[in-house]
Amino acid sequence: MQVPLLDLKAQYAALRDEIRPAIDEVCDAQYFILGPKVTAFEAETAAYCGSKAAVGVSSGSDALIISLMALDIGPGDAVITSPYTFFATVGAISRVGATPVFVDIDPVTYNMDPAALEALLANWPGRFAGLTPRAVMPVHLYGQCADMDPIMAVAKQHELAVIEDGAQAIGSEYPSADGTRRAGSIGTTGCFSFFPSKNLGGFGDGGLVTTQDEELAEKLSQLRNHGMNPRYYHKMVGGNFRLDAIQAAVLSVKLRYLDEWHAGRRKNAAHYTAAFEGSEVQTPTMAYADSGVEQPHIFNQFIIRVPNRDAVKAHITEKEIGNDIYYPLCLHMQECFAGLGYEEGDFPHAEQAAREVLALPVYPELTEEMQNYVVKSVLEAI
Ligand SMILES: Cc1ncc(COP(=O)(O)O)c(C=O)c1O
Repeated sequence: MQVPLLDLKAQYAALRDEIRPAIDEVCDAQYFILGPKVTAFEAETAAYCGSKAAVGVSSGSDALIISLMALDIGPGDAVITSPYTFFATVGAISRVGATPVFVDIDPVTYNMDPAALEALLANWPGRFAGLTPRAVMPVHLYGQCADMDPIMAVAKQHELAVIEDGAQAIGSEYPSADGTRRAGSIGTTGCFSFFPSKNLGGFGDGGLVTTQDEELAEKLSQLRNHGMNPRYYHKMVGGNFRLDAIQAAVLSVKLRYLDEWHAGRRKNAAHYTAAFEGSEVQTPTMAYADSGVEQPHIFNQFIIRVPNRDAVKAHITEKEIGNDIYYPLCLHMQECFAGLGYEEGDFPHAEQAAREVLALPVYPELTEEMQNYVVKSVLEAI
């Protein structure tokens, strides 16, 4: 049996009759960049995320870059983040000329450990003399929010902005002391990606920045269009970070199904978790499951941990089961960041995760038969 890691064709088949007319509308209007489809999608996603404003941009990477630009973060500034994330998180910090500074992850959730953040800042500058900490960039990895209350408290104490990298976690809920909050509605900005493999995936690249600060939203929307306001007058240097109308049209249709898809993924995750119980396979922990929030995890990825990961990967690949390693090499160990001066052993939890994690198919259209085949094949390898 073949089981792909993700099957977007199945999703498209179910929505084709809604998506094609939405694209046709854009073609008929010949209004391809920003415009009414993007404005409508921004209002819908702001409401969905529980944010006052949303600004559609060209990708999740650009959402991070433009957030940093809007906060005037650049050379001489430090942005504290996780060494265990997709490259774009850290790449964005470098792209604006700021310096990424890492803290280790919580080994259970794979998200930034707030205690490590607190310790770093309590001892600042340590080896970071000459750098000013300006922002924290927690990542809501795999679809579960980082522990935001303590992160926000430390950020407030040290007057830091908080840029949430919610690329994998749109709609994921966090039980804050002041009520249930969705990813991207807590920090200074929230950044999202509509890369096709995300739970809300476009027909190409796309991204979004959310914020509760309407003045900042205005600045972000000018920056995404070369800092222009009014037309051909520029008080700031921005860039071309605009969202296409076709993406917005597709995403507006898909947004209506998003919570249903999240629920399907959670159901599949629960099935795996039950099936692997008692084995050596470590399944994901839903840190907020008992808090009463409805969407404690959106399972953009279902990640298992196994000590003989490479052997398990080889075996299930042979069995034609899609799988992947997110991520095999931590960011502090990447060649392009050698100049930051980190060494192997600096972030043991992140490094151990990189050796042990394996993503299994969890998309909502997966059948029980397919899941049982995945479980059987993983267990065979163990
Ligand atoms: C955690 C994280 N941050 C940022 C990004 C960048 O998003 P994009 O690929 O849309 O630029 C991604 C997705 O690829 C991601 O997973």
